[in-house]
Amino acid sequence: MTIHIGAQPGDIAETVLLPGDPYRAKWAAETFLEDVKLVNEVRGMLGFTGTWKGNRVTIHGSGMGMPSLSIYANELIRDYGAQTLIRIGSCGGMQESVKVRDVILAMTASSISTPSRGIFKEFQFAPCADWSLLKAAAEAAEAKGTPTHVGGIYSSDVFYDERPDLNEQMTRHGILGVEMEAAELYNLAARHGRRALAVLTVSDHLLTGEALPSDQREKSFGDMVEIALQAAFA
Ligand code: ADE
Repeated sequence: MTIHIGAQPGDIAETVLLPGDPYRAKWAAETFLEDVKLVNEVRGMLGFTGTWKGNRVTIHGSGMGMPSLSIYANELIRDYGAQTLIRIGSCGGMQESVKVRDVILAMTASSISTPSRGIFKEFQFAPCADWSLLKAAAEAAEAKGTPTHVGGIYSSDVFYDERPDLNEQMTRHGILGVEMEAAELYNLAARHGRRALAVLTVSDHLLTGEALPSDQREKSFGDMVEIALQAAFA
């Protein structure tokens, strides 16, 4: 057990999917995995381990924002030996070519700041996805026929952003979408020699103001979980 995860040694699989929302972890585990076992519920941050096509998988909530994700990813990597970590979450679209419901595979994750800033200081480290996961996810998305974009995203520290000028610059520089966790996941994976990827569903759009109705979120979320699972075990 760690400070934030009550799982016993061996309860966590080497492959971990990380949705922000713990109830999405529950839904995804119950929908896609077999032999599901609850392995963590400390502070309501639910984690489940089961099997997908015979492969062991843990689906564990990360919470919202990089400080929260950093706690869970650090403990999953350092104490439980997680090797492959895939964020499955939502993002805001930032290009006209990117539509609500589309999937984004985050090749890179830019940020103003991450919990790793103390290490990098003035150096601009470029957090990037694991190539084998990125390639396999792109192939899985193409085979499913899911409209998918591969490119850079932006990990923000704020949902209610008071700096529209920064969003404009991100759009101008080709950033596909904004979310709040991937950059630190990529930093931690690089530091510890693990594989990481963020598979994101566009839930809202910064240019059009469109948002995915709540009754349609589940279906879009399901496509993303399947792409992540196929990529993990390709
Ligand atoms: N996650 C989903 N939509 C988002 C947005 N517009 N900004 C930041 N994170 C998000």
